[in-house]
Amino acid sequence: MLLEIKDLCASVKGTPLLKGVHLKVREGEIHAIMGPNGAGKSTLAKVLAGHPSYEVTSGEVLFKGQNLLELAPEERAHAGLFMSFQYPIEIPGVSNQQFLLTALNSIRKARNEKEISPEEFETYLEEKMASVEIPPEWKRRNVNEGFSGGEKKRNEILQMAVLNPLLAILDETDSGLDIDALKVVGRGINRLMNDKMGLLLITHYQRLLDTIKPHVVHVMLDGKIVQSGGPELALKLESKGYDWIKSSVHEEAAR
Ligand SMILES: Nc1ncnc2c1ncn2[C@@H]1O[C@H](COP(=O)(O)OP(=O)(O)O)[C@@H](O)[C@H]1O
Ligand SMILES: [Mg+2]
Repeated sequence: MLLEIKDLCASVKGTPLLKGVHLKVREGEIHAIMGPNGAGKSTLAKVLAGHPSYEVTSGEVLFKGQNLLELAPEERAHAGLFMSFQYPIEIPGVSNQQFLLTALNSIRKARNEKEISPEEFETYLEEKMASVEIPPEWKRRNVNEGFSGGEKKRNEILQMAVLNPLLAILDETDSGLDIDALKVVGRGINRLMNDKMGLLLITHYQRLLDTIKPHVVHVMLDGKIVQSGGPELALKLESKGYDWIKSSVHEEAAR
């Protein structure tokens, strides 16, 4: 098992936001987490990444059998966790190439692997850029500086390609993308996916799932996963809206 979340509860300043999340992701699996705004999707992603604002009040998270919650955020990255944020940050004055080389080498160093030289890295980066359909000139652009929302999202897929994670959590990678960019991002993610890796796609809309076929779709509502199913669940949500799932959950609770 790659990721196992058991009864995870988390709060911000005493307010509970995650209220008992259970989730299992195996190697080679793509899971989509859908849900209305405010359901706790980004909170779940940030708690897994180790964001300091969130306090885990109970539950357990195992990443390849290791207790993820006791690791510092950078140790989680070293262990193979990759997280893209809903709002990617800009790093003025640092080129994409420099940033990615530093990020990759810090992971290699932590794993006692040989650091990669700037020359070797350039070739590696060019291959990765081609695989995710990113123009070569983005190497020299400063990280996300002056990037449109959609370009930032594409740049995150490049980060993922370079870092080659075991588990990638992509939060609303589809937001702000037009239809063509959405397809580019979808194709890039599909090319990066492999049978050792797990992918957690957090999305409000079904449309990214036209290109990336999830094995399991989960619906999150009020800090919990209330329903899980196959790709057909995403289509049902798209046509019926989230109110349908809210009322079906309430009916079940009343029974
Ligand atoms: N740092 C925070 N401080 C206070 N409230 C927060 C914080 N982060 C998230 N929340 C609240 O938690 C709820 C879930 O938010 P979020 O996880 O961003 O939802 P989603 O990503 O599903 O739209 C929302 O009501 C949001 O306002
Ligand atoms: Mg969110």
